[in-house]
Amino acid sequence: MSDLFKKITSHCKEYGFIFQSSEIYDGLSATYDYGPNGVELKNNIKDYWWHSMVKMHQNITGIDAAIFMHPKTWKASGHVDAFNDPLIDNKDSKKRYRADVLIEEYMEKIENKINKEITKAKKRFDDFDEKMFRETNNRVVENQKKIDAIAARLAKAMSDGDMADLKAQIEEYEIPCPVSGSRDWTEVRQFNLMFNTQLGNIAGEEGKLYLRPETAQGIFVNFLNVQKTTRQKIPFGIAQIGKAFRNEIIARQFIFRMREFEQMEMQFFVKPGEEMKWYEYWKETRLNWHLALGTSKEKYRYHDHDNLAHYANAAVDIQFEFPFGFRELEGIHSRTDFDLKSHQELSSKKLQYFDPQENANYTPYVVETSIGLDRMFLAMISNAYTEETMTDDQGKTSERIVLKLHPALSPVKCAILPLLKNKEELTTAAMDVFNKLKSHFLCQYDEKDAIGRRYRRQDAIGTPFCVTIDFDTLENGTVTLRERDSLEQKRMPIDALAQEISSQIALHNVLQ
Ligand code: GAP
Repeated sequence: MSDLFKKITSHCKEYGFIFQSSEIYDGLSATYDYGPNGVELKNNIKDYWWHSMVKMHQNITGIDAAIFMHPKTWKASGHVDAFNDPLIDNKDSKKRYRADVLIEEYMEKIENKINKEITKAKKRFDDFDEKMFRETNNRVVENQKKIDAIAARLAKAMSDGDMADLKAQIEEYEIPCPVSGSRDWTEVRQFNLMFNTQLGNIAGEEGKLYLRPETAQGIFVNFLNVQKTTRQKIPFGIAQIGKAFRNEIIARQFIFRMREFEQMEMQFFVKPGEEMKWYEYWKETRLNWHLALGTSKEKYRYHDHDNLAHYANAAVDIQFEFPFGFRELEGIHSRTDFDLKSHQELSSKKLQYFDPQENANYTPYVVETSIGLDRMFLAMISNAYTEETMTDDQGKTSERIVLKLHPALSPVKCAILPLLKNKEELTTAAMDVFNKLKSHFLCQYDEKDAIGRRYRRQDAIGTPFCVTIDFDTLENGTVTLRERDSLEQKRMPIDALAQEISSQIALHNVLQ
């Protein structure tokens, strides 16, 4: 873990965002609990996604399907047969790895060599042209060729399910175990990622249930229920937020890869032949959703899939630059009619749409947008985490950690702070302000410690506004309103606070 990432994870714990699950029993790996501030931030992200999908589109409606589904669902979807990761064990450390991840990490090492060359060259030349350097520097060109060749071979081995070649690659590249340093590996085996459990009243295979590995299937099996009850015409979408479960072989990097996580997925049903048009539309729309929060454009990039999932004819990731590098945050997949057709075959129920314009029945094609809520949480908190040195009017400096979250996402919107704790007239007036504002947005009343320390506590959880009640408040009914990022303070009447703060934290500022 980089130093920055370590700081972010401990900040999450210290300020009540995220706790290790079952911590008193030394934790359960790759499962996490969201604390009081975490649950608020998570709910605000959900609200933003739900509003932008369901409320901003007349042709998108939501559902909340059960986690347990008929076991045939997962046969039809291909997850029973094809939702596998290739695993490999190191015989000395007894540690288990994903073979593809070991090879990807090997490619990253080569990529780091390229980045080092570029950093060195940037320092040497004032008018440095990175594109030209990448195309002409021998070492960079050679290393890039190596990466491209490895990526192509890896993609082929993955889509062919060629476990022997994955093993051969690990041996050829002489990849050592990150723990023992040894190169004594087992064969590569397929490992199904679905968790299963058993129905109480049916023994054996018949009663085997799976915890859903994606929320999407709850949408597919309800496609006709929703279409008929909402009378939607194609193109239309169904959105859902809910838990998904995957028995990840390597689960690390905090909440980036968990065994229990939440997805926000939307399936957009389109006329066959129009899927690429909608794929491009959603690719752009989803990137704009991220950018509307004010995060720098440089933090995002598209990454086309080299290795398509069993259901897709096109797929792209929106990657985000986490503290450990660019990684997948969201996927946009053109899923063809694979899922609806498979469910139709296995259930023997017709899952078709009657198109009044065409006067014909057909199985719609699907374009999916799928984002991990926990990954979005990690992206937002990593992006917001800032260490700052401040200088006051007398030139004195002090440090602060501030979460520069978009105000619409901040867990607490406003802190109400009486200047002094032991002046009853101030605490009573502050409590009155708190009672006036609490029905508008989440407020926190805090009277403990000096005012500066209280500001720091609110900065650390990303509270965009602090209201201070002082002796002038008692005289003229005004307070100071402090803004988190600019540190600007302005005086305003108590009666104007609700409107002023509401207008700045409102979701509609970011909805497009
Ligand atoms: N329905 C398509 C689907 O599930 P995916 O790329 O496997 O596609 C979609 O997952 C998103 O779910 C990912 O982009 C990621 O944000 C999130 N995700 C997947 N596995 C995860 C895990 N183990 N922990 C946290 N988030 C995960």
